[in-house]
Amino acid sequence: MNNLFWEKQAEKLDWYKKWKSVIAGERPYKRWFTGGKLNASYQCLDRHIKNGLGQKIAIYWINELGESQSFSYKQVYDEVNRLAFGLNNLGVKKGDVVVIYMPMIVQAIFSMLAVARVGAIHNVVFSAFSYKSLKDRIIDTNAKFLITADYSLRRGKFIDLKFVADLASHETSIQKVIVVKRTNLDISLDPEKDILYQDLIKNSKDYFEPVQVESNDPLFVLYTSGTTGKPKGIVHSTGGYLTYVNYSYNAAFGDTKNSVYWCTADVGWVTGHSYAVYAPLMNGATSVIYEGAPDFPNPSIWWKLIEKYKVNILYTSPTAIRMLRKLGEEWLENIDLSSLKVLGSVGEIINPDIWQWFFERIGGSRCPIIDTWWQTETGGFMICPKINYKLEDLKAGSPTFPLDEIEIDILDEDGKSVPVGQKGYLVIKNFWPGLTLGIWGDNKRFEETYWSKFKDAYYPGDYAIKDKDGYIWFLGRSDETLNIAGHRIGTGEIENAVVKNINIAETAVAAIPDKIKGQNFVLFVVLKQNNNLDNIILEKEIINTLKIEIGALAKPAKIYFVESLPKTRSGKIMRRVLSSLLQKSDVGDLTTLENISCIDNIRSVIALDKI
Ligand code: PRX
Repeated sequence: MNNLFWEKQAEKLDWYKKWKSVIAGERPYKRWFTGGKLNASYQCLDRHIKNGLGQKIAIYWINELGESQSFSYKQVYDEVNRLAFGLNNLGVKKGDVVVIYMPMIVQAIFSMLAVARVGAIHNVVFSAFSYKSLKDRIIDTNAKFLITADYSLRRGKFIDLKFVADLASHETSIQKVIVVKRTNLDISLDPEKDILYQDLIKNSKDYFEPVQVESNDPLFVLYTSGTTGKPKGIVHSTGGYLTYVNYSYNAAFGDTKNSVYWCTADVGWVTGHSYAVYAPLMNGATSVIYEGAPDFPNPSIWWKLIEKYKVNILYTSPTAIRMLRKLGEEWLENIDLSSLKVLGSVGEIINPDIWQWFFERIGGSRCPIIDTWWQTETGGFMICPKINYKLEDLKAGSPTFPLDEIEIDILDEDGKSVPVGQKGYLVIKNFWPGLTLGIWGDNKRFEETYWSKFKDAYYPGDYAIKDKDGYIWFLGRSDETLNIAGHRIGTGEIENAVVKNINIAETAVAAIPDKIKGQNFVLFVVLKQNNNLDNIILEKEIINTLKIEIGALAKPAKIYFVESLPKTRSGKIMRRVLSSLLQKSDVGDLTTLENISCIDNIRSVIALDKI
């Protein structure tokens, strides 16, 4: 590990107090820049104001109705200061968790920065998650404060977010709910609990001194799905995380001070945190923030925004590109995309044909595609091309090589490096400042999930191969999590939700490939005995249960009612067999299968569906 390298990266931030040591502590709990003091909102705002960049546009915000607003760095600074003052007055203190449940509106970003300014910890929850998902997170962090909005807007529909927030916060630790009023639609306000965001900042002061936090004080918690059980609260530090996000962003996208940059990710995901909020703001870039779907009001909306705002860097997901390509090239006609210089991809494997289309049709064969492999836990990009690579150095579908000081290996089941071209488990062998501090309140799960499969290495849960030139290629998850449209969902999480329906004895999720979303899932359901409910009604119930328990993301492509599930003698469901049966491929070795008779039944249920 090159301490000097990381020290140099940390020096690019403004610290109130320098660290005592670059790295300290026992693995896997290594701590970076201990003793150093800083504030995240200072990094994103105050330093630019001091450097005379106050009038520069920080954010262009647009929604699907065509409403737009722009904010200079000074305007963002003013908003964040007022909100920080208001939050502090409400009692938000250093170390408190503040839940942010908001759509892609600028107030979501202001809230993140204001929470950081008072030294508190934000927990952003994706606004399409259900009230149960929100409630679970509130219960896990024991948060006292929630910031939300009256409504969110998606494909022409207003969704009553405040109602969802009320359901979620009922009988929890939440004491105060701050509500951004953005529509004239009615909402109910509880005078004891609710306060309008607009009222909170109205009588605020223009300046709130940033609270100096220690480098390893958490900046945020963000939940992500695991193989089993509930989602895990991934905790990120302030100093190490910001250092790493800043370093990786510059390595991939270069100096963006004079760039218009658009990361299309929602703030509810890690990409939104690291690369729609913190990295571009720390670097004084001008960001585009769009509230809406890529195909609404029509599939040319993204391309028109690129033309209008002269976007130079577009960072998005393969799912969005696949969807836009499918909707037809006519939506690109007469649109000038010549401002684009760099394209980025994240969240899932970018298939070579999509890579090529993105490269030629959107990037005019002149923009490099920066395919970035990373995770919620890693804080920032781990494997991606660096901006100074030549176009000829890129290979369609590979995120190329690890960034500096990131040591990758690909191992077999016994922990030995696999030969070139052979599939294995990707591991990271050293520490880097962006690595999560751990799972909120659950060290045991942290150690078991990432540090127990292989000795002395971080195990992210992905299959990969290295080709003869050293390029890394990803082959999907090696654990039982799904990647649907670039979003991680645990098979266990889905199954746990489904069996909450009293008519269901057991269920199993089987992954299937999906032309647009990359992956999707099919549910196999075994009903309790003596059940004479109509399958169509049950199907609706299951879909509804998943919507309530998890959110709209968790919608099965199909539900099959079967007599029993394929299991090993020890009772483990053989999902691999289900996936093979679905894809009509070879089911492989069935010697460990206990109930072989289930296979014929499952086959016939699937076959009946195709008739
Ligand atoms: O399986 C990998 C896939 O997404 C997982 C991380 O999911 P999440 O924490 O939700 O973060 C998504 C945004 C960083 C990884 O373990 N993944 C992410 N980026 C890529 C990818 N798979 C292939 N290529 C990528 N560029």
